[in-house]
Amino acid sequence: MAARRHSLAAVALSLALGSGASAQSQLSDSRWLPPGSDIASSLSSEPREILRVTEAGGIEPFLVGLGRLAFRSPLLLGGEARRLGLSCNTCHTGGGANTSFFVAGVSDLPGNVDGAHSFFNLKADDGRNRSINIPDLRGVRWRGPYGHDGRFWSLREFTRDVIVTEFAGDDPPAVILDALVAYQNELDQPTNPNLAPNGALTDRASEAAHRGETLFRRDCAACHIPSAGFVDRLNHDVGTGERIDTPTLLGLSVTAPYLHDGGAADLGAVIDHFDKLLGLGYGADDKQALTAYLDAVGAVAEPDVPVTLDRDLVRLRALAGLAMTPLQDEDPALTDLIVELTRFEIGRIFERFHRNDHQPAQRLLIRWSRALGDIATLAHDRKFAAARVALAGWQTMLDEERSKLDGAAGTSLYNPDVLAKAG
Ligand code: HEC
Ligand code: HEC
Repeated sequence: MAARRHSLAAVALSLALGSGASAQSQLSDSRWLPPGSDIASSLSSEPREILRVTEAGGIEPFLVGLGRLAFRSPLLLGGEARRLGLSCNTCHTGGGANTSFFVAGVSDLPGNVDGAHSFFNLKADDGRNRSINIPDLRGVRWRGPYGHDGRFWSLREFTRDVIVTEFAGDDPPAVILDALVAYQNELDQPTNPNLAPNGALTDRASEAAHRGETLFRRDCAACHIPSAGFVDRLNHDVGTGERIDTPTLLGLSVTAPYLHDGGAADLGAVIDHFDKLLGLGYGADDKQALTAYLDAVGAVAEPDVPVTLDRDLVRLRALAGLAMTPLQDEDPALTDLIVELTRFEIGRIFERFHRNDHQPAQRLLIRWSRALGDIATLAHDRKFAAARVALAGWQTMLDEERSKLDGAAGTSLYNPDVLAKAG
């Protein structure tokens, strides 16, 4: 299955680039990733994307929507990452962490990646085999400096560095960097009923957790400041081999293994580590209380959401609609970019219709993809009014035709049972 997943990503890419006709023949191509790899690009569920603006009932700004589109697009990355169909979202799924990501030779454990590896960028290889645990980006705006070693204070600089240095991409246009930053700054943690806004435990947490909180305030809170998202925004060497930017403890329950190199399998191992390091002399009772506390702080009350055709189509419609802004501004370059990235989204939907008898669905999707391409051509010819009409028409077409996909959806990789059997 792993082999097929990534070759499907290649299909999506070729479809996005307009070579949909060759997509079929690539379905059996499995030479892209080393054996044993799993980038899990076809998941049946994923963390819910939680945006501050929409949670508060506001309307999502254009730049945030554009950021989501860019975050999901391999076209921004270069080299091997792009060929594999990797995007920011592959690793930071829905803004959370993809704990099953595994590329042989680049990951030592699932959920770990050596970003500075020649596999992704020959020039960035630091010659060391050093895998880093993929962080959850929700709440990332509170957590500068960025990178496990805190090497960038600016999220914009960090993001550019990820694209250009780690993944050998071209320098992205300024608007795309702005958009990626705007999007990431919106990502929020799910609310945790165990925690008050100031980071103190509420009555919802167990008695053991409350006992653990007392220990934590004494021994740990100087660095993991509860009222500041459990970080101090500083680097420390806590006996793990190098200076590391203090990580948040929110969302811990879904981000095992722990420590920057994934060296601690569970929270008990982390507590043992600090117990030894700081000479705290914890008894079994203390460790149990502290584990209960970390469980309460790191709880993610919200289950992952299923990946469905309906959700993907709603998102597709909205992403395509982003092109209306540059069409109004008479900006053919940005229109073109949005159209290309959106066609990749169609490619992702295409990936899930994998069977021979899905050809009508595949043809429909290819037609949608081409029709979007035609809108970019109109913009290129500076026929902006016609392009705006065509885009509105494209969305109407999607509304009218989307039910044609329903029949095939049951046997497609949107059906978790089919997906599980395919794996
Ligand atoms: C192959 C998996 C992978 C991809 C693709 C990827 N990242 Fe990451 N990301 C990581 C890992 C691993 C780290 C931790 C490494 C580090 O901190 O140096 C990280 C760290 C980060 C951080 C720092 C978080 C913090 O709290 O310091 C940000 C921000 C980020 N990534 C954004 C992005 C963006 C934006 C993209 C797309 C342009 C992207 N990532 C693509 C794996 C990935
Ligand atoms: C001197 C500052 C400091 C103190 C004190 C401290 N920590 Fe940390 N903590 C860190 C740093 C830095 C890391 C990252 C280390 C690494 O990844 O190599 C970390 C990592 C962790 C992690 C792993 C998080 C993850 O996502 O991988 C947990 C859990 C944790 N600390 C809990 C505690 C507990 C519990 C205590 C008290 C017993 C404590 N820390 C005391 C700075 C501190």
